[in-house]
Order: sequence, then structure tokens, then C-alpha cells
Amino acid sequence: MKVTVVGAGNVGATCADVLAQREIANEIVLLDIKEGVAEGKALDIWQTAPINLYDSRTVGSTNDYSKTADSDVVVITSGLPRKPGMSRDDLIATNAGIVKTVTENVVKYSPNAIIIVVSNPLDVMTYCAYLNAKIDSKRVFGMAGVLDTARYRAFLATELNVSPKDIQAVLMGGHGDTMVPLPRYTTVAGIPVTELISEEKLNEIIERTKFGGGEIVKLLGTSAWYAPGAAAAQMVEAIVRDQKRIFPVCAWLDGEYGMKEIFLGVPVVLGKNGIEKIIELDLNDAEKALLEESAVAVKSVMAVLDTMNATNA
Ligand code: LAC
Repeated sequence: MKVTVVGAGNVGATCADVLAQREIANEIVLLDIKEGVAEGKALDIWQTAPINLYDSRTVGSTNDYSKTADSDVVVITSGLPRKPGMSRDDLIATNAGIVKTVTENVVKYSPNAIIIVVSNPLDVMTYCAYLNAKIDSKRVFGMAGVLDTARYRAFLATELNVSPKDIQAVLMGGHGDTMVPLPRYTTVAGIPVTELISEEKLNEIIERTKFGGGEIVKLLGTSAWYAPGAAAAQMVEAIVRDQKRIFPVCAWLDGEYGMKEIFLGVPVVLGKNGIEKIIELDLNDAEKALLEESAVAVKSVMAVLDTMNATNA
């Protein structure tokens, strides 16, 4: 299996590192526009192989997409990260141009690849990649829910003083402050979380999750990378190993949840064909209202991209 990671910044390099360390692909290409950066990081990862004992070949490339040819999966992390005070949506003008060019190059050399978008603003950059890739929506989708759910699960593990391994959860909606963690679908080793935690504490954790990315931007002056990189790698793993894992993924909806023509976080089954199924939960009215609110927020940023495209056309 060959996997390309476009963008050798913190998120891209971490994703490539996890892919190599866990031998998720035997050939990994890291590509960046900045001279030497992808080569340098790929070489560093490869030189870790004799220490940590893996054999995934990792190579770097400065913007030479021929090196990425015939990739099975491509992860797009390109674009600027947030600075303190910025929302993910502030990045749209710059990152849309980058994601468009990257996607066109990716598809030119790997027409059969499954594309996972990680660039922000996530839902709209996934839409941007979809418009430019011109491939089936089951093969182009975004990574957000795995990360957001991981944050939610980590906060719960800390609060309950239990292993994060035992916390299962679903989170839906856009990758922004309107994301929708779902306590009704959160369990701790099969026990409904609501039996283990007060409503007040749970609400605090939900609020902290919604702003989880911003919390890290405030601490570091830039976006997170360990969890985002690992989250993207976990999605790649589900695809290349055909695991049929259920993850919340930013997916194109065509009537599911009563919505159409929108990329939004929903639970899906991920396997060798990409999104093999969108799971439709029977949401209650309050949950539906939160999801719809999140959809409105995502649609408004998708409209910004549509306007930009119409102006440039
Ligand atoms: C975050 C960025 C990567 O949530 O969107 O940390």
C-alpha cells in the first residue's frame, strides 16, 4: 500500500510518522512545497526505523507529484494553521487556493486514490477538494470527528480517572464551535456515561471539547498536531486494512439526516472503498436541532467558497 501525505508541517509529519511507526503502509511519501522540508522529515522518520523496528519506506519530495503516483490513500494537510485569535474560517481564502492546487495534482497522479482532507476550515476544505477532485464523494472526505471525539474521550478519561481505551463516543456536525458531542451515545466500557458523571460536569466537558482546538492554539500559538496527525493516520489504517471501523467523518450528505449538498460530520463505516456506509442515528429533537445549527454554520462558510469560485470563474 502506498500512502501520500501532502504538507510536511507539524500535522502532516506527525501523520507520516504514525503511519510509518505502525506500519500502516509499506510506502509513504511526504510532500511539501518548501524546499527540502519533506525530504528532511521523511529521512528523519526513516532513520528511526532501525531504532523502533519498522520497515515502512518513507521518502520526501519538494512538490514533485510524480513521486506520489498511484497512491492508494492521500492525506491533504496543506495550508496555514490558526494563530491565536483566529477562527478556522479565517483561513478560507488562503487555504482554498492551496487545497485546490494540491487536489488537482493529487488526482492527476493518483486518479484512484481515496482522499482524506485535514486542512482548515475542515468542512469547507473537504468541499473544496471534492469540487476539484471530481471523484465519488465516498472517496473524498474529511478528518475532524476522530480528533474531536478523541478530545472529548480524553477529557472524560481524566475526569472519571479511567482508561481512555474504555470510552466510546460519537460526535457529529462541523469541525467548529457548533460541533455536537452526543452524551446519549457515550459509554464507558458499555456503561452510559450519564450514570457515571453529573450533568453539570458533562456539560463542562462538552463545552471544553467544542473549543478543544482553540485551547491548544492559545497554549502553543499554533494548532495542535499530535492528535490531528494520529487521527488522520487512524482513518488511513481503517481504509488500507479494510477494517470497517465506525468513525465520525466529514462526509458529503445526500439526503441523510434530511440534509443535502453539505459536508458534515456523521458516523460512517470506513473500509477499502472509503465511506462504505453512512450510519443514520435516530436523533432526538434536541440533538437534531444542534446538528441543524451546525449545518447552518458550515453552509455559510461553504457559501463563501462558492462565491469565491464564482468570482474567479
Ligand atoms: C484542531 C485543528 C487542527 O482542532 O483544527 O486542533
